[in-house]
Amino acid sequence: MKNYGGHILAVNTSVQDLSAIYRDQFTVFNHVTYMNTCSQGALADRVRASFDTYLQTLELKGSAWGDWAGHQENVRGLLAKFFNVASAEIAVTTSASAAVSSLASSFDYTQKRNKIVTTENEFPTIGQIWHAQERRGAKVVHVASKPDLTVDVAAVINAIDDETLIVSVTMVCFRNGAMTELEPIIEAAHKKGALVLVDAYQGTGAVPIDLSTLKTDFLVSGNLKYMLGAPGVGFMFARESTTKHLVPINTGWFAARDIFAMDIHAYDPATDARRFEAGTPAIPALYPAAAGLEIMLEVGMQNIYDYVAPLHDELRAGIEAMGGTVVTPSSRLNHGAMLAVASTDENAHVAALEGEKVVTSCRDGNIRVSPHFYNNREDVEKVLAAFAKHKSFLRK
Ligand SMILES: Cc1ncc(COP(=O)(O)O)c(C=O)c1O
Repeated sequence: MKNYGGHILAVNTSVQDLSAIYRDQFTVFNHVTYMNTCSQGALADRVRASFDTYLQTLELKGSAWGDWAGHQENVRGLLAKFFNVASAEIAVTTSASAAVSSLASSFDYTQKRNKIVTTENEFPTIGQIWHAQERRGAKVVHVASKPDLTVDVAAVINAIDDETLIVSVTMVCFRNGAMTELEPIIEAAHKKGALVLVDAYQGTGAVPIDLSTLKTDFLVSGNLKYMLGAPGVGFMFARESTTKHLVPINTGWFAARDIFAMDIHAYDPATDARRFEAGTPAIPALYPAAAGLEIMLEVGMQNIYDYVAPLHDELRAGIEAMGGTVVTPSSRLNHGAMLAVASTDENAHVAALEGEKVVTSCRDGNIRVSPHFYNNREDVEKVLAAFAKHKSFLRK
């Protein structure tokens, strides 16, 4: 058993068949073989019902601000429980981008420490937000990835110096599924006095993350993928002990110490992570975010990880057996739930698979296949059969 990046990556051999328990709560499987959680989680009946609850509140009460403020706090509390930290360390935002923009606005890039060390595996929004800070004096350094597409941890560590303000690193790459070894990077950054932001959007809900042991200063993600929610809710963990000195310039009244003070003559932000929030929360998306989180907590993150790992391995073995190339690193320490298959024509390939009622997605020349706890071996077989039928798209 290895504690790696704050998550326990030992795979349990006596795995519970989670799909047998939960799959019938996901109606989409009556229609298609859904293996596209890296893009959007499948809709659970309970998540669907939560949208109805939102609409019913409007129908019954007209407006329901009282309920709604409580909903933001409910999601904050569930996220805190999910990551094993205090609610005060969670900002609930409208996207991961909104959280990172707010964070980026809290730095003074005219100081000597103005360097942002990042990687080639980042999601576009991360690179774009950091490069936007160049106009304010920031210097952005991208560290090249290794030939196996993983982040070059040694090279990242090498790039961190006394001028490094923050190291911004992805946990699981959205293009190829490569997972980064985070702990040595965090340790090296802290030794040099730099902060760390982890973009864990492709990791949260797929790989266990305990933020009481993974010592990153910030972690950003959102609820719509493996966490089963809907677009409109992102979040950021901000470790109180290392980040409370940072006060964002990008702000709004929901980030104020007292939201209902209605003061237009001063900026008095919350002192906890809520200071990274902004305006009216995306209320309709908070309902499904909470419902999805409740399911995730019920199923259990370690159970999900243990259950999905063999499905991932079987998909990989099947693709390779038919002559395809899986570009996702094979070591369990270096990938999340998603595997990426090299394709000669990614869009046509996705469409061909969809014609077989197999739903996947593509990025950067690869087909992304992303099993979750509601998928089963039959799904794996259907996915592989569809890939076999359209073998001509497989890039060697
Ligand atoms: C790794 C990663 N980061 C960030 C994002 C985007 O986040 P948002 O649209 O909430 O800003 C995504 C969405 O696909 C992602 O996969």
